[in-house]
Amino acid sequence: MNLKRTHTCGELSSKHLNQSVILNGWVDDWRDLGGVLFIGLRDRYGVTQIVFEPESKGDLYQNAKKLRSEFVIAVKGLVRRRPSDAINPEMKTGDIEIVCSELELLNISKPLPFELKDYAEKSEELRLKYRYLDLRRGILQNNLIMRHKLAQLTREYFSDLNFVEIETPVLTKSTPEGARDFLVPSRMYPGKFYAMPQSPQTYKQILMISGFDRYFQIVKCYRDEDLRKDRQPEFTQVDIEMSFVDEEDVFQVMEKYMARLFENLLNIVINTPIPRMSYDQAMENYGSDKPDLRYDLKIQNLTEIFKDSAFNIFSKISQENGFIGALVLPEARDYSRKQIDLLNEYIKSLGGAGIATFIKNDQKFDGGISKFFNEDEKSRLLSQFKSSKQAMIFVIADSSIEKAQILLGYLRQKLAEDLDLIDKNVNVLSWTVDFPLLEFDPEEQRFIARHHPFTSPKLTDLDLLQNKPELARARAYDLIWNGNEIAGGSIRIHQREVQERMFQALNISSAEAREKFGFLLDALEYGAPPHGGIAFGFDRMAMLFAKADSIRDVIAFPKTSSALALMENAPTPVSEKQLRELGLKIKDHSK
Ligand code: AMO
Repeated sequence: MNLKRTHTCGELSSKHLNQSVILNGWVDDWRDLGGVLFIGLRDRYGVTQIVFEPESKGDLYQNAKKLRSEFVIAVKGLVRRRPSDAINPEMKTGDIEIVCSELELLNISKPLPFELKDYAEKSEELRLKYRYLDLRRGILQNNLIMRHKLAQLTREYFSDLNFVEIETPVLTKSTPEGARDFLVPSRMYPGKFYAMPQSPQTYKQILMISGFDRYFQIVKCYRDEDLRKDRQPEFTQVDIEMSFVDEEDVFQVMEKYMARLFENLLNIVINTPIPRMSYDQAMENYGSDKPDLRYDLKIQNLTEIFKDSAFNIFSKISQENGFIGALVLPEARDYSRKQIDLLNEYIKSLGGAGIATFIKNDQKFDGGISKFFNEDEKSRLLSQFKSSKQAMIFVIADSSIEKAQILLGYLRQKLAEDLDLIDKNVNVLSWTVDFPLLEFDPEEQRFIARHHPFTSPKLTDLDLLQNKPELARARAYDLIWNGNEIAGGSIRIHQREVQERMFQALNISSAEAREKFGFLLDALEYGAPPHGGIAFGFDRMAMLFAKADSIRDVIAFPKTSSALALMENAPTPVSEKQLRELGLKIKDHSK
């Protein structure tokens, strides 16, 4: 390579007029304008226009005509001002162009499977297969640069507060997060497996017991679970743990962290303290433990009103202590039958029985289930809905309160998206607190920890563990940003006796607890300090800061939604020899 760059493709301006410069990069586009050839030369920093004139020396012009998209070249030339009608104010370098005097071809490229310009519209499968080309697009480069800044700010913020970054193992033992583990077979101990960590949860607690006081790590976590656009099988957390703290200390450090990120990355000042909402409130009002609070649409509880309804399904659900909830939408008052049918299908696809509707027209109710209303119900409904003159009212009922609320939460979000109720320019952060400690697992027929088994119960609820475990609340908290759970954590159990009561409530025998988490249980007996922490979903934060639609757009080499790595092609079968060494035999799946 003879022509090494003196500048990048994004930095030249009229300040550099008449200077001789060298640029290196990729041919972004080329236009032959009847004699004069224009090339956009691209690198990570921008695009600069290069001009090849037919009268240039030797065969420079002829050689330039052979250039094609994505060829890698070096050019030397003089910076000159563009003619006034050719100035492009949209481009950083839009004032100038380089008149090329020397060209070096550094590499050619096959014709691309797609033009980079319309690459975004191509199927994601293709984009992931040719990820190296996809990553040439400015938008993905900017996303990854944003992600880098997020990591830098994170390291700087926590280091300044005396947090120590400590790495923890990837080949380990099952961790308590509750998804399925990725396993790695051991060659030295055939028949035995390492588990990859679903989070460094147990290690960070051990580090507190070791006296590190404040720990953080930007760390990969591995969970074999069903994927969505905000979930990947391997993802990154900012994992944090602190000693001698309660909830307030954790909130304070994390709120300042968020404030720092918003200010540096989006130039936005956020209000602190960040408001808190109990889990019960969130479920009752928004049907979600991660409510999107950018729009104020609340679920209205109609369970009492329909206790003696002539509509039998409702009276039955009401009397059996189920839940009947409504969403009142003036914006949807003209919804067609077809639009309502589509929403009905949506709720059924989520496992619901469907949606009942009716219309409020001033002091009257029309359509749908309104024919079942008696005078008393009508007057109670009128007073309940007095703030909306005309509206479509959507009702979901279920004998499980939680299920009805969750379905209403999905419907709320769907209607808000369809009716454009969400202000995309605002950012609303909230804490969800006072989570239930346990949930009943119908498959295992026992209570399981909602968060993980080391989360401390509220001290006032300790006695409920034995008698009414379903009522015990946890010292756990989630941080929500525009309806996305971006972080979750808790104050931990630090006393062996409380930990044992927790395992009893979970119906985990001491032998089983010992087998799974013996090292942590042992450690808890050697002077464990009170401690607590949190983990942020780093990819989710990067997605939101970059205003991307999916976490795949902020991860350099993501997996598809069916957990495939399309570029490198993983997973793949392995050789007989490898299997033999590991003491493994593959069953014939075709049988
Ligand atoms: P939790 O399981 O809530 O807590 O995870 C913390 C945060 O990680 C993000 N997250 C994910 N992001 C992408 N893909 C996934 N599959 C995925 N799963 C989780 C979410 C979530 O809020 N050890 C505890 C933390 C603690 O108690 O300190 C834990 O892992 O944004």
